[in-house]
Parts: sequence; C-alpha cells; structure tokens
Amino acid sequence: MELKSNKEEPGDARAAVEKILDMKKRGEKISALTAYDYPMARLLDEAGVDILLVGDSVGNVVLGFPDTTHVTMEHMLHHVAAVARAHPRGLLIADMPYRSYEEPEEAVRNARRLVEAGAQCLKIEGGRAVLPQVEAVLAAGIPVCGHLGMLPQQILLEGGYRIKGKAEAEQKVLLEDALALEKAGVMAIVLELVQKDFTPQITAALKIPTIGIGSGAACDGQVLVTHDLTGAFPWFTPRHVTPALQTGEDIRRTVREWIGSLKQP
Ligand code: KIV
Repeated sequence: MELKSNKEEPGDARAAVEKILDMKKRGEKISALTAYDYPMARLLDEAGVDILLVGDSVGNVVLGFPDTTHVTMEHMLHHVAAVARAHPRGLLIADMPYRSYEEPEEAVRNARRLVEAGAQCLKIEGGRAVLPQVEAVLAAGIPVCGHLGMLPQQILLEGGYRIKGKAEAEQKVLLEDALALEKAGVMAIVLELVQKDFTPQITAALKIPTIGIGSGAACDGQVLVTHDLTGAFPWFTPRHVTPALQTGEDIRRTVREWIGSLKQP
C-alpha cells in the first residue's frame, strides 16, 4: 500500500484555494464532502471531490457524541492528520472546534496546530461576532472559510437545528455577516440550513463562493456529511439528504451472513 506524506510544498494551500475561487468565476459547481480518516479521504479524492472537510461533525457520526460541542482540538488534530496522509488533491479544510477560538491569540495558536497536522484552510463558525478571530488567523497567513446560518456549535443556546433567514431581520443579519466575512478575506462561506429562497441573494452579493448544506441548490457549491450521503450513520438522516447507499444496512446484513456461515454445522 502506498502511504503518502502529509508534508506539502509551500504555496499548495494558496493554489488549492485559488482553484476553488476560479470555479465560482467559471460558474462551475463546487463539491465538498466530509472525511475523517485516511481510507475515506483516498476514496473521495479518487472520485474527484473538490473539497475535503474534516468537520467537527466527526463528533456526531464517528465519536458518538450528541453534538459537536464535545469535539476537542486533540480529536481534530488526530483526524486532520489521518486525512492529510491521503494527500488529497482537493482543498483540505478543517473545522476549528468549539471553544478553540474564543480569543484571537488562541485562534491563531490552534489554527497553526491544525495547519501543522495538515489542514490547508480552517472553517470558523460565526459572522461579525468572530471577526477578530477570523482576521487574526488570516493575518497569520492561514486561509479561512466562513460558516453562517445554523451554527452547530451554538446548539446548546439554540436548543435545536432550525432554518435560518426566514424573517427579514434574520436575512439582514446573514447578509451583513457574509459581506463582513468576505471583506475580511475568507475564501468561501458555508451556508447551513439557510432559507432556500434567500441563498440566491447572498450568493449573488458575494464574489467568493457560497457552499450550501440544506440551503437549496442555488449556492455555488454543496457540502454533505459523507456518512449521510452513504447511509453509514443510519440512526439519523437529516431532512435535506437522501442517502445514495445503504452502507449501515449492508454491513449489518454482511455480518449477519458471515456469522450465519460460521455457525452452520
Ligand atoms: O462539521 C461539518 O461536517 C460541517 C458541515 C455540516 C458543513 O461543518
């Protein structure tokens, strides 16, 4: 088996980011999927995905936590390094986990650790509320992807996952946050569970790409949790996803058959 190093040439991250920005200019849709380990990263890379996201959704679909607020820097470093060892051609974005970017200095310190583990770009949840942290990470020379709409790291405050941007006041906040993040220099913005009639307006207002999840088809790209797309976490499927595979059920059936074959007299 060929094992690839996660050491990259300087400038690779910038080139990978430019590639994504050019896709918006050309009107080419951007594909993004989550990866948390080496084999999945290799498979997604071999299939040609544009962005691999080491999301803190690793907490929900791999580590058995009820939400992403339990995910730590140590968890993220472990999974980012595993994905980076696959040396994917797509841009490798990693989430900054809950409470890892409370202050700008802390954000830069933790961002550097994630880059050292192999991330090329970091995703930070929030708009103007986290602008100083976003600006500090960008000033350290590290590309940042924004994340607006439903913010899973705020789940304890929100009390549930709900569509954002239904009311005019919420739309105004979303648009102003998106413009502030773009002005700061983020390379793209994930829009999670944003009212789908409103995403065309945000997408048209920005030069950088919007990448939607549960926010309708009008974004410049789409991101999914790979376990949702492949049915690998069959106990919960978000409303915006129709699994294309039944991986969970296939594993149960295969294992049942194997056990049966062992126990046959
Ligand atoms: O953690 C994650 O997988 C994400 C996606 C939902 C965009 O942030």
